[in-house]
Amino acid sequence: MMKTLSSFLILLLFVAPPLSVAAKRPVRAKHGMVVSADANASNVGVQILKKGGNAVDAAVAVGFALAVTFPGAGNIGGGGFMVIRMADGRTTTFDYREKAPASANSTMFLDEKGNFVPSRSQDGYLACGVPGSVAGMVMALERYGKLDRKTVLQPAVDFAAKGFRLSHEFADELKADMRDILKYPSSAKAFTKEGRPYDEGDLFVQKDLARTLQRIQRKGRDGFYRGTTADLIVAEMKRGAGLITKDDLASYVAVERPPIRGTYRGYEIVSMGPPSSGGMVLMEMLNLLEPFDIAGSGFGSSKTIGLMTEAMKLAYADRAEFMGDGDFYPVPVGRLISKDYAAERRVLLDSSKATPSRLLGHGAIEIKEGMHTTHYSIVDQWGNAVSVTTTINSWYGNKIVVDGAGFFLNNEMDDFAAKPGAPNQFGLLGGSANSVQPNKRMLSAMTPTIVLKDGQPYLIVGSPGGSTIITSVLQVVLNVLDHRMNVAEANEAPRFHHQWMPDTIQCERFGFPKDVIQNLEARGYAIRPRGGTLGRIEAIQIDRKNGFLFGATDPRGYGAAVGY
Ligand code: DON
Repeated sequence: MMKTLSSFLILLLFVAPPLSVAAKRPVRAKHGMVVSADANASNVGVQILKKGGNAVDAAVAVGFALAVTFPGAGNIGGGGFMVIRMADGRTTTFDYREKAPASANSTMFLDEKGNFVPSRSQDGYLACGVPGSVAGMVMALERYGKLDRKTVLQPAVDFAAKGFRLSHEFADELKADMRDILKYPSSAKAFTKEGRPYDEGDLFVQKDLARTLQRIQRKGRDGFYRGTTADLIVAEMKRGAGLITKDDLASYVAVERPPIRGTYRGYEIVSMGPPSSGGMVLMEMLNLLEPFDIAGSGFGSSKTIGLMTEAMKLAYADRAEFMGDGDFYPVPVGRLISKDYAAERRVLLDSSKATPSRLLGHGAIEIKEGMHTTHYSIVDQWGNAVSVTTTINSWYGNKIVVDGAGFFLNNEMDDFAAKPGAPNQFGLLGGSANSVQPNKRMLSAMTPTIVLKDGQPYLIVGSPGGSTIITSVLQVVLNVLDHRMNVAEANEAPRFHHQWMPDTIQCERFGFPKDVIQNLEARGYAIRPRGGTLGRIEAIQIDRKNGFLFGATDPRGYGAAVGY
């Protein structure tokens, strides 16, 4: 008996998936790797890969699992973007961003005097866009997956129906938002023990959510956008004078779109286009920085930080002016991501001192008629790579659970520019490119990205963090490509952020050494250390030569890189 037990334990040591713990050492595997913000979900992904599923099957399974085990950001009531690079060379993206309801309008978040009322776009029913996640994941599975819906949704159904033990973090996060959750009886029913907070170690069962997931399992998108789930969503909307109708749900479509593509020092960048600003802003910053010797000026030096900050300002100024839903506004994508445009804009990039943001503004582009969150990265045994960022915007979205359906709705409407010059919850500005219009998708900053080296996937990366997503991705990309860090080092390294307006560098606590801060201040930069951290990157780096996959979860979170 003892012998069997000890050989079982030894076997476990060898086959049990390694969880990422050491901050500077990535998790290493040979066949497949899943890095997500939640260990249960990462394990689901690996389970699917081991069943013979590809990276897209695993991505969809992880997406649905996160909706159950990581409901602060994982969702079926929100939206997201999936960037895919298949082993045969095809690259594509799925846009399943939420859209404004048909009865939305440009003044819906303004008071009688025309002033923006942030609570209207951030809290409650009006804040909610028509969810896209189910449509997008089902479509991606049908077009690029190998397994059936039943198989990829089953782990999520099991977590919801049979429950799972709550981690310290899960219970803590629920407690932190208790006041908001108790405001809505449906949310209190699903996410509290009759009004009392759940504790670490409790078995958390979500019966309504299990039934919703089973409807999706059986009927695909119709299990969400029509029939019982749609009826429950519309009934919830009616309770709070929300705008989403049956028609809004039935007419929602996910869209497969070409990715944003560019190059940086010979590496190819594949990222998300409109309605995300992520790929365009990332590409513009990389183009601006390309001629500079970033490696030579060194990681974390005031010179490098100054350069990167100037590039961030220029690109975020363009974001505010030119970026929105490309189906509603002629976003000059080609020009914004071109090397020529970066060359023109670079004349404004003074690497020796801060140029005040108000003097920078956006570029001159002639428009011809003619974007709390979570990221996960997956690579399978064939070399297919998938990068997904998904969101309900704030943690627990608009805090409203659809009664009887068991999931939180988003508050994504706040990503629109409610009024020119009025910052949203991330301090982002915008104008007509991102104004509220019926059926339009709100601009996103989500930046799911795949970097190719010699034509093959090399780095799969992305992050939550609102406006700071794009600069977090930029920094991990530069850390790997320029500073030659391993993916875990790149992920752990301190981060900073500038978004043109407000004209300040935000840095992590202990992010910059004192003399670097003094140098930057002497050159005219305003620096504001943040209370919290910046971004939560889940990344994979591929070492083709030695046949290894390296996964790294951000030490700022409590996710897991699991490989086999
Ligand atoms: O799509 C966007 O850009 C935002 N809704 C993302 C929100 C987010 O990352 C919140 N997490 N910290």
